Amino acid sequence: MTDTAEHSSPSEKRSAVRSLLRLWPYVRPARNRMAAGAAVTIVASCAGLVIPLALKWIVDGPVAGKDPSGVWLGGALVLVLGLLEASLFALRRFILARPLARVEADMRADLYGHLQRLPVSFHDRWPSGQLLSRATTDLMLLRIFLAFPLTFLLVNGVTILVGFIVLLIQQWTLGLVLLAPVVPLVILCTYFEERYSRAARTAQDQSGDLATVVEESVLGIRIIKGFGRHRGQEKVFAALSGRLRGTELRKAHLLGMLWAVIMSLPELAIGAALVLGVLQVADGELSAGTLVAFLSTALALRWPVESFGFLIAIANESATAADRYFEVMDAPVPADPASGKASAKASGKASGKTSGKARAAKEHGGLRLEGVGFRYPDAPADAPPVLHGVDLHIRPGETMALVGTTGSGKTTLTALIPRLHEATSGRITLDGEDIAAMPRERLRALVSVAFEDPTLFSASVGENVLMGADAGREADLTRALEVAQAGFVHSLPEGTGTQVGEQGLSLSGGQRQRLALARAVVGDPRFLILDDPLSALDVHTEALVEAALREVLAGTTALVVAHRPSTVLLADRVALLSKGRITAVGTHHELLRTSREYASLMAGDEDRSAAADRTHAGHEGGRR
Ligand SMILES: Nc1ncnc2c1ncn2[C@@H]1O[C@H](COP(=O)(O)OP(=O)(O)OP(=O)(O)O)[C@@H](O)[C@H]1O
Ligand SMILES: [Mg+2]
Repeated sequence: MTDTAEHSSPSEKRSAVRSLLRLWPYVRPARNRMAAGAAVTIVASCAGLVIPLALKWIVDGPVAGKDPSGVWLGGALVLVLGLLEASLFALRRFILARPLARVEADMRADLYGHLQRLPVSFHDRWPSGQLLSRATTDLMLLRIFLAFPLTFLLVNGVTILVGFIVLLIQQWTLGLVLLAPVVPLVILCTYFEERYSRAARTAQDQSGDLATVVEESVLGIRIIKGFGRHRGQEKVFAALSGRLRGTELRKAHLLGMLWAVIMSLPELAIGAALVLGVLQVADGELSAGTLVAFLSTALALRWPVESFGFLIAIANESATAADRYFEVMDAPVPADPASGKASAKASGKASGKTSGKARAAKEHGGLRLEGVGFRYPDAPADAPPVLHGVDLHIRPGETMALVGTTGSGKTTLTALIPRLHEATSGRITLDGEDIAAMPRERLRALVSVAFEDPTLFSASVGENVLMGADAGREADLTRALEVAQAGFVHSLPEGTGTQVGEQGLSLSGGQRQRLALARAVVGDPRFLILDDPLSALDVHTEALVEAALREVLAGTTALVVAHRPSTVLLADRVALLSKGRITAVGTHHELLRTSREYASLMAGDEDRSAAADRTHAGHEGGRR
């Protein structure tokens, strides 16, 4: 289950304005358009305020003087003002639509780029639904905010100000009556704003959790169906969705109360002003036209005032959306030596030592781990580290098998070499060069991996495999498919152009594993890391892949995680990982003799091993 609290904002007092101000860098390119849009809207809104003044002129002039042509003229003036107001509002939309869509697209692109650069440990911690909802719902909210509430908070503020000035000039006593509710309104709005923004944050987090459940159940549909778990899953969904519904209801409740106050207080004030105004007209202190103008202005201000409740609500939700967006954007991306001074230093050092380089490469060449330790960032503090003091040297061109009980840290160790996780201590060198000082791009070009879990993407078979090489060509693809014994792709409907379904689920486990293996070898990497690459293959296919791999591995420095003796036999030497350290290194036969742990690890598989050995030998014999 996902944990909302972990991703919620800290309890420290947040400010909606401060959160929204962080959007400035994205809004900057659109600032002129936005200013123009706001100006147009202010003019449109104030044009609306001139209409009551025209009415006053009509009532006190032509109507009082019974002059029909003057009434027509006045009517035409009101019509023109109305048309002007309407067309300016339309112009506003035209000005803003394009740049704001751009802002949203830029923010989304930045978020996606950032997610790609964030370390694996971040993704281990964050549920994908939370990230998904931030990239979609929250960004949409922000665009709506920039297009509508932001402008109207300004425009309505200005309109209210201008309106009240007009009111006060016309009849200051009545104007003060209308102004009376302002103070209680501000106090009440502040009170609701605070509670509403908390509810909004909860609702957005809960909808992220809901997205996670939906995503997991779609991806895990096979397990859910296989175990008949759909009822349970429905219950989980219903519970979360019920919680979200409760939060939304609370929001609606708060908004309803806010709305009631914002609507009724001004209405009361207008009613009072009407009574007072009629009395004043009866006393002859006020002209009928002024009262008409006064009341129409007051009514024209009703929408700007009433909309404030709604605008504050959206502004709050948008501030929350901005917080949630920047929570992800603020997660630090580990510095790449290529982009800092470190790289200049490192390359300077390297070029200074050119004379001794050949010797150094010989001594330190290959893949070397020195005193490497690692613990997962989210592991409990008292748990022992997964790896500690790991020393291992794989000579250039050598293939080393990595063996250990399940859960001993083999996968963890292999993840340190392409720096999916950062070693917490010690260092790892490739041909003498520390990977920590290596630009990520270079590291990824040198090292190629095939993971335990062969993930494929919704793309064609060929694209999935060629992902492993920077400028892979058709010939590389054919060779890689051959090494991985993935000839089955040629009998797919469109060969290597066949689209694989989401996560490659349209292929069998062994087929996926072979494509993942092809992806690892296609770029002809100097260093190859294979995490149990043959586990899903039948003995016969395994033997064929091994024979082909042997040729690839001959020129490559490789670390191959192995469970079966048949895979171990691919390697020149074997390293045994036990209790977080490498406890023995040697050939398969040496270790069988010298390490009891190794012998017992392999013993369970003895019968299969013998069978595999026979297949293997038979096959090799056949080739010679
Ligand atoms: N992302 C993670 N966060 C915290 N702990 C983890 C994480 N991944 C693995 N571990 C822990 O690290 C230990 C080593 O796991 P690892 O996957 O490296 O084992 P392994 O040797 O590859 O096992 P197997 O042979 O089953 O594949 C395990 O105890 C596991 O619980
Ligand atoms: Mg593993």
